[in-house]
Amino acid sequence: MAFPAGFGWGASTAAYQVEGGWDADGKGPSVWDTFTHQGGERVFQNQTGDVACGSYTLWEEDLKCIKQLGLTHYRFSLSWSRLLPDGTTGFINQKGIDYYNKIIDDLLTNGVTPIVTLYHFDLPQALEDKGGWLSEAIIESFDKYARFCFSTFGDRVKQWITINEPNILAIMAYDLGVFPPGVPHFGTGGYQAAHNLIKAHARSWHSYDSLFRKEQKGMVSLAIFAGWAEPADTNSVSDQEAAKRAIAFCLDFFAKPIFIDGDYPEVVKSQIAFMSKKQGYPSSRLPEFTEEEKRMIKGTADFFAVQYYTSRLVKYQENKKEEVGFLQDVELQVFPDPSWKRLDWVYVVPWGIRKLLKYIKDTYNNPVIYITENGLPQGDPASLDDTQRWEYFRQTFQELFKAIQLDKVNLKLYCAWSLLDNFEWTQGYSSRFGFFHVDFEDPARPRVPYTSAKEYAKIIRNNGLKESL
Ligand code: BGC
Repeated sequence: MAFPAGFGWGASTAAYQVEGGWDADGKGPSVWDTFTHQGGERVFQNQTGDVACGSYTLWEEDLKCIKQLGLTHYRFSLSWSRLLPDGTTGFINQKGIDYYNKIIDDLLTNGVTPIVTLYHFDLPQALEDKGGWLSEAIIESFDKYARFCFSTFGDRVKQWITINEPNILAIMAYDLGVFPPGVPHFGTGGYQAAHNLIKAHARSWHSYDSLFRKEQKGMVSLAIFAGWAEPADTNSVSDQEAAKRAIAFCLDFFAKPIFIDGDYPEVVKSQIAFMSKKQGYPSSRLPEFTEEEKRMIKGTADFFAVQYYTSRLVKYQENKKEEVGFLQDVELQVFPDPSWKRLDWVYVVPWGIRKLLKYIKDTYNNPVIYITENGLPQGDPASLDDTQRWEYFRQTFQELFKAIQLDKVNLKLYCAWSLLDNFEWTQGYSSRFGFFHVDFEDPARPRVPYTSAKEYAKIIRNNGLKESL
C-alpha cells in the first residue's frame, strides 16, 4: 500500500495544550488560563495548562521528536495572547514573535513544512471580556490578528488554518458552556458564535487573498471536525435522514457556506426554524446571512481540512419535550455499535474515515483534502508498548489507502493527533494522544517514544504500509 509520491505525513499540536509558559515573557491570559485557574471541577482534577509539556522552553525537545518520526509536516498553533497580549495589535509581544520564528525556521531548516493554525480554542481573555464569539466585534479583531500573522510569518508559512474546529468550539464554549467562558446558552449561543466564526474565517481569507497571496503564494482554510454518522437501521428512512441530519449539523453547517454557496444547509435552516416556532420564538434561533455576506463567505477555502476521530450510529428521536438546545434541535439519538472497540473515550471505527472522505469528495466537488487531526487516546499507560493502539492506526491507514486508490479521493496529507501526550482540555492529562509519552510529574517533562512512534516512523519512511490490499 504505497501512498502517492509526495504524500504528507504529519502530526499536530495546539498552543495551550503543549506550551505552558502561560504568563512567561509578557504573554497575556487566554480564556483557558482564566477557566482552569477558576477551578470548580470543570477540568479533570482541576488541572491546568500552566506548564503542560513545557514546549515554550522545550521546543528543541519537540523538534527531536519530529525528526525521530521523520515528519514531512508539523501542524502547531499560535497563541494569540502570546503574540498580542490583549488580543489587539495595540501591543505586540516581540518575545512571542521570536518563539514562533524559531519554530518555523527550525522546521524549515530540517525540511519539515509548517502548517500553522491561527487560533485553536485559546481566545485572549481581553476579547472574551468584550463578548468573545457572541459579539460581532470579534470578526474585526480576528481579521486584524490574522493579517498580523500573515505579514509576520507568511514569508515562510504557506499553509494556514484560520480556526480549529469552529463547530466544536461553538457548541462546547457557547451552547453547552463546558469550555470557557463556561456559560451555557442552550440553543442560541452556539449558533451566534458559529455565525461570527464563519464570517471571521471568510474575512481573513479575503485579507490573505487580496493582500498577501500574490507575494506569499500560500493557502488558507479552516479545520472542521467531523465524525461519521451511520443510520442505526440502514433500511429505515427516518434513520437514514437522521444520519444525514447529523452530518449536516456537524460538517456541512460550516463546509456548505464556505465551500458551496455562502449559506447553511437547507435541512439545518428548516429544522431550527421548525423547532424555534414550536417553542414560541418569534423567528428562527439560527441567524441569517445577508446576500452580501453570502457572497463574501462563498469560496473562502483553498483546501478541505477535516479532523476525524470516531463514528456513531444514529436514530431519529423526536424532541417531544421541546427542549431548547443544539443537540435537541437535531432530533436524534447517537450511540456506538456494541461491537465497536473502545480506547479511552474514543470508539474505534477506522472505516468511518473512508466513508467521510468519500462524502466530502462527492459533496464538495472533489477538493484537495488534508486530514489535519486523527488519533486514538489511551488512559494512563502501563507501559510504552501501545501495540493495540497502533493496530487501529494501521487499520486507519489501510482505509486511507482504499480512499485514495479505490474511491479516488484527493487526499494529500495526514496529520495525526498528537506529537506528544498533552493537556486534553476538560480531561486534563488523563487522556493521552501522543506518539511520545510525557511525564507530567517530572519538571523536565521527558518525551519518550511509544511503540506507535517507531511504527509511524516506518510508515513515513516507506510512504505507506508494507502490505497489499
Ligand atoms: C481538538 C484537539 C483535541 C483532540 C482530541 C480535537 O477536537 O482539535 O485539540 O485534543 O480533538 O480530543
